[in-house]
Amino acid sequence: ELSRQTKLKEVAGIPLQAPTVDNWRQIQTFEAKPDDLLICTYPKSGTTWIQEIVDMIEQNGVVEKCRRAIIQHRHPFIEWARPPQPSGVDKANEMPAPRILRTHLPTQLLPPSFWTNNCKFLYVARNAKDCMVSYYHFYRMSQVLPEPGTWDEYFETFINGKVSWGSWFDHVKGWWEIRDKYQILFLFYEDMKRNPKHEIQKVMQFMGKNLDEDVVDKIVLETSFEKMKENPMTNRSTTPKSILDQSISPFMRKGTVGDWKNHFTVAQNERFDEIYKQKMGRTSLNFSMEL
Ligand code: PPS
Repeated sequence: ELSRQTKLKEVAGIPLQAPTVDNWRQIQTFEAKPDDLLICTYPKSGTTWIQEIVDMIEQNGVVEKCRRAIIQHRHPFIEWARPPQPSGVDKANEMPAPRILRTHLPTQLLPPSFWTNNCKFLYVARNAKDCMVSYYHFYRMSQVLPEPGTWDEYFETFINGKVSWGSWFDHVKGWWEIRDKYQILFLFYEDMKRNPKHEIQKVMQFMGKNLDEDVVDKIVLETSFEKMKENPMTNRSTTPKSILDQSISPFMRKGTVGDWKNHFTVAQNERFDEIYKQKMGRTSLNFSMEL
């Protein structure tokens, strides 16, 4: 029996949290500025990680400056809404330029002013299977999402794109297909794990920053999973239990590549591979997974 009352609503077939849908007009008419940088991800793809990296670069590697606020408050979350608190758009509107913002929205739902202002977009993709597993544990601990049910039930919900923010396949494909049309730096979680320094240097270049190598090394260290798990400004430890119950599963859970192997049955894996081929087969997108 499910005890959480939460239900998702939909915008153009994409399930989203109800307060977001109720605030849709404000979100769609958001006015981006040409010097905005938007961090874009499907949920559980390394959003918090790339946010901390971007902030460390922005603050020239000064740790104390990154501790000025919890990570959710440093980069306004465009579609976030929980009245009567100020919405993500309200917070973005108050932020001085140049702004760094974040979203989980798929391309077709992004406020159009981001395109017309030719903003910079930083997209991080994580392989579908690990993303799905991470999202499962997040669904379990989150008290503001519907209950995921059993792993098998959740498996169906995820592959049918009925989770919050919709289908992983459509999201990643959508952003991948426009990557050359706009100023988009497209990164992979798996590359960030394998060679964080290299990926951080790419982000730095994209942001038009030039930091000394010892500063880059410091950023690599400070944004490691182990450091961020201990850091109260990044580990969500201040989020009330009524929103995120970390006694069920920690927000900074494992931070690894390949944890799906501990969740998928052989049959589920075969089925998933089949669906993956159907949905992603014709894209040039390749996850360099030595899974
Ligand atoms: S959210 O709620 O969508 O913003 O979540 P998001 O931050 O995108 O994803 C959470 C997962 O990212 C892992 N994580 C990290 N991995 C490696 N290095 C660092 N520094 C890092 N920080 C967060 C986090 O542990 C979640 O993945 P899982 O697989 O559940 O551990």
